[in-house]
Parts: sequence; structure tokens; C-alpha cells
Amino acid sequence: MKKIALVMLAFIATVSIYSCGGTSNPTETTSSPATPSKVTGDVVYKKTCITCHQTNGEGIPNTYPPLAKSDFIADKEKTIAQVIKGYSGELTVNGKKYNSAMPAQQLNDEEVAAVLTYVYGNFGNGGTTVTADEVKAVRGKI
Ligand code: HEC
Repeated sequence: MKKIALVMLAFIATVSIYSCGGTSNPTETTSSPATPSKVTGDVVYKKTCITCHQTNGEGIPNTYPPLAKSDFIADKEKTIAQVIKGYSGELTVNGKKYNSAMPAQQLNDEEVAAVLTYVYGNFGNGGTTVTADEVKAVRGKI
């Protein structure tokens, strides 16, 4: 009878030590995973828009309209739509007509928000923030 009690005690002790070790392990592993890098507007711009709109956002005369000091971007909704849907046909930027085509950009809501916030905040533009929710709202309309 005494022997059984001892075995039971040993068993309980082993189980509690084991379960302690078991609970401390997951906390160690959850602290290390790499968090996905945040989307930054300048990276998206350099990857996606720069070929046409150029490094300084000046575009190319008569071909690619400028994003720098563009009066077109005063209309935020239209600007968001321009990026996600593209546009072909005539449009006017700072009094100059362009009649070309911009393909729809394959970017998610966060990327569009980041790149437009970057455009609004650079190239001599006034600066404004575009959120992923605003992009999502425009996407739902067009
Ligand atoms: C393949 C070339 C090309 C790429 C890439 C491109 N665009 Fe454009 N974009 C154009 C052209 C061409 C127009 C004018 C379209 C027209 O004449 O109908 C334009 C027009 C615009 C306009 C409206 C007019 C203005 O200048 O304010 C905005 C805003 C714009 N693009 C932003 C962007 C952003 C932001 C990106 C990157 C996410 C981008 N574009 C990528 C060619 C491009």
C-alpha cells in the first residue's frame, strides 16, 4: 500500500513538472516570429510608378502627366480610382491635356494608400493621408 502511494506521488510530481515545461515553451516561440514588413509608399512608388511618372514625379512632357504639384490629385476619390482602375482617354493636369493610357495598378488597398500618401506628401504637394479604408470604399464603387 505504501509503495503504491509512493509511485502515485512520483507520478503526480512528474506530470506537474512536465506540464509546467509544456506551458512555458509556447511563450518562448511566439516572441520570435518575423513580423511582416510594413508597406511603405516610397518603396511602392519606386517599384510601380517611377517608370512613367519619374523619380521627382514630374512625368514626361506630353506623355506622362506630372504628379508633382498636380491639380488633378485635389480630388482624392478620382486619384484613388486612377490608380486602382487605370484610365485611358483625355485628362487635364495643370491646364495641359494628356491623351494616353495608364494601366490599372495591381496593388492591394494598403499599397495604394501608402503610395498615394507618399505622392501627396512629396513632390511639392500639400500633403494628405490616404487610408486603406478610403481605397476600399472607392474600390467598392467603381
Ligand atoms: C505605364 C505607365 C504608368 C504607370 C506605371 C503609372 N502611371 Fe499614372 N499615369 C500614366 C498616364 C499615361 C496617365 C495619364 C492617362 C491619360 O492620359 O489618360 C497617368 C495619370 C495618373 C494620374 C492622374 C493625373 C496626374 O498626373 O495627376 C495619377 C494621380 C497617377 N497617374 C498616379 C499614378 C501612381 C500613384 C502610379 C503608381 C502606383 C502610377 N500612376 C503608375 C502612366 C502611368
